[in-house]
Amino acid sequence: MTKLQIKPFDRNFGCSIELPSYAREDPSLLTPNDFEELRTALYNYLVVIIPNQEKLSPKSQYLLTKMFDKTIVDSKDDGEANYGHGKEFRHENSVLKKDGCSVKSQPQVQILGQGTFKAGEPGNENGEDIHLTHPSHTTFHHEPLSSEQIREKNQTRFYRWHIDSALYGLSPPKVTTLLGIKVPPSSKVQTIEYDDGSGDSLQLSQGATCFVSGKEAFDRLSNEEKDFALNTIVEYAPHPYIFISRAKATKDGLTMVSEGKELSLSDLPDWEEEKIKKLPMVWTNPLTREHHLQVHGCCLYKLHTKKGNKIETLEMEDARKKVYSLMRPAIASKNVLAHGWSEGDLVIFFNQGVWHSVTGEFKGMNNGLDEKRLMHQCNIASGEDPVTVF
Ligand SMILES: [Fe+2]
Repeated sequence: MTKLQIKPFDRNFGCSIELPSYAREDPSLLTPNDFEELRTALYNYLVVIIPNQEKLSPKSQYLLTKMFDKTIVDSKDDGEANYGHGKEFRHENSVLKKDGCSVKSQPQVQILGQGTFKAGEPGNENGEDIHLTHPSHTTFHHEPLSSEQIREKNQTRFYRWHIDSALYGLSPPKVTTLLGIKVPPSSKVQTIEYDDGSGDSLQLSQGATCFVSGKEAFDRLSNEEKDFALNTIVEYAPHPYIFISRAKATKDGLTMVSEGKELSLSDLPDWEEEKIKKLPMVWTNPLTREHHLQVHGCCLYKLHTKKGNKIETLEMEDARKKVYSLMRPAIASKNVLAHGWSEGDLVIFFNQGVWHSVTGEFKGMNNGLDEKRLMHQCNIASGEDPVTVF
């Protein structure tokens, strides 16, 4: 086959792609014309799945990820670009600390998953054993599921709806690539009960990665809400993942419960005013020109809304409530694209146009043993912040 084949999913949210034969094992080898087709598909469908990529090397994954963003700035030290979280995500107090380790030869690629992998096992070229912990909502949600709900009723939760981004100093990556190298069989099913009076529930394969479209989320808003969103700047806390490290999330993973547990700004590691991220609430898709509602509901600090020639500010607790009301309809089960993993799946998503969440409980779920999973994830801080184009 010489041409790239695109198969769109329902509602044109998500698609699967078959690569032309010359690039079948390495999409970073696509010709500029074929790559442009892939890039166009990404901006149109927002989530792209390329099967059978288990042999993709960390170097090629890095090169491919970088191809999507011409504004990426290489570091002066080593000529390579910054991982989307820089180095801070391994800070002792960060809620991201346990989520992975880096590929030694290509530190922008993170190894995520569950279990111990010996040196030389597929996906572990680090020359030593690695130990991975799958993020479970049980350590992050305010009211986690009971062990009976997890083990006997096979329930799980959306761990944290988010955009991949440091949200301090660095700009959000345009694209994230996620490669499933070792995954549990996708035949195992778990259920998310929304448990919020809506009666909604979502069945998904164990460890599915969930996506919602920021475009659909924006389109669904009332005219009044659209007006609010288009005129609002979201201010994030300095070192946001450390700031929220003692707080707990709502049971749908959309935002944090406000009970005063955030660190005070003076207890955070040193921070600089000019590195605080103030991003528009709506990011415009550079290809389709559609507006996407893009907020990290767990890390937000304040909302600043232009009303006439005045700016009205909502402080954190009210800002969370407001954002929650705008975001909650988007995660209804009928709107969620839940990707159940097969080994070799390469998922590329437009990080500035979707929100995503980990799901799945892996501890003790394989006849009393932990499930094993290993993935390679790469995203690179962009050279520019996303903008609303009116
Ligand atoms: Fe993520």
